[in-house]
Amino acid sequence: MPTDYEKIYQGQRHALGEPTEAFVTFFDQYDQQNADVLDVGCGQGRDALFIARRGHHVVGVDRAATGISQLLEDAQAEGLRIDGIVADLRHFEPVGTYDVVIIDRTLHMLDADMRLDVLTRVCPCVCDDGFVLIADEKSNLAAMRAFFEADNHTWVTLKDKQGFLFLQKRTFPAPS
Ligand SMILES: C[S@@+](CC[C@H](N)C(=O)[O-])C[C@H]1O[C@@H](n2cnc3c(N)ncnc32)[C@H](O)[C@@H]1O
Repeated sequence: MPTDYEKIYQGQRHALGEPTEAFVTFFDQYDQQNADVLDVGCGQGRDALFIARRGHHVVGVDRAATGISQLLEDAQAEGLRIDGIVADLRHFEPVGTYDVVIIDRTLHMLDADMRLDVLTRVCPCVCDDGFVLIADEKSNLAAMRAFFEADNHTWVTLKDKQGFLFLQKRTFPAPS
């Protein structure tokens, strides 16, 4: 049975409109070239497309096969470096490492425990000094904040307001 988003994507290209402004601002200030970016729950790729247009390589994951195929069509038409994976985030295990992981309004679609389960599987693939950028319902962010505070890595909070939680994974040198 098609999911709600599968039906939305079948009915309309670019259904979610422009990229999320806070993510655009982050990439305006991000000075790394050729970064590897994972877009978790990418949908039709409104974020993945603008990030790839800046020269980065993006892997987008979503269970809506139509969203992924539209994303890949757009990427091919523009010659962008985007790979797509059709997968259910409840079981998805990322492979490799990423400079930036973005999760734009996807985690609220999962049960509360599963949101943290996804973070548990995805955050280890963020490289040292890499970033996790989350947009979600404000009421869901407290549990995510607590997740990062309890993690073994040191996460520096860059933005925590208006439904955005942006963090950087820092590995500080051991004291001599
Ligand atoms: C609100 S849309 C956001 C899409 C995209 N991040 C954006 O901002 O345009 C939520 C997305 O999460 C995806 N999604 C929801 N539950 C999922 C699951 N269990 N596994 C994979 N994708 C899922 C939906 O298919 C949909 O594309």
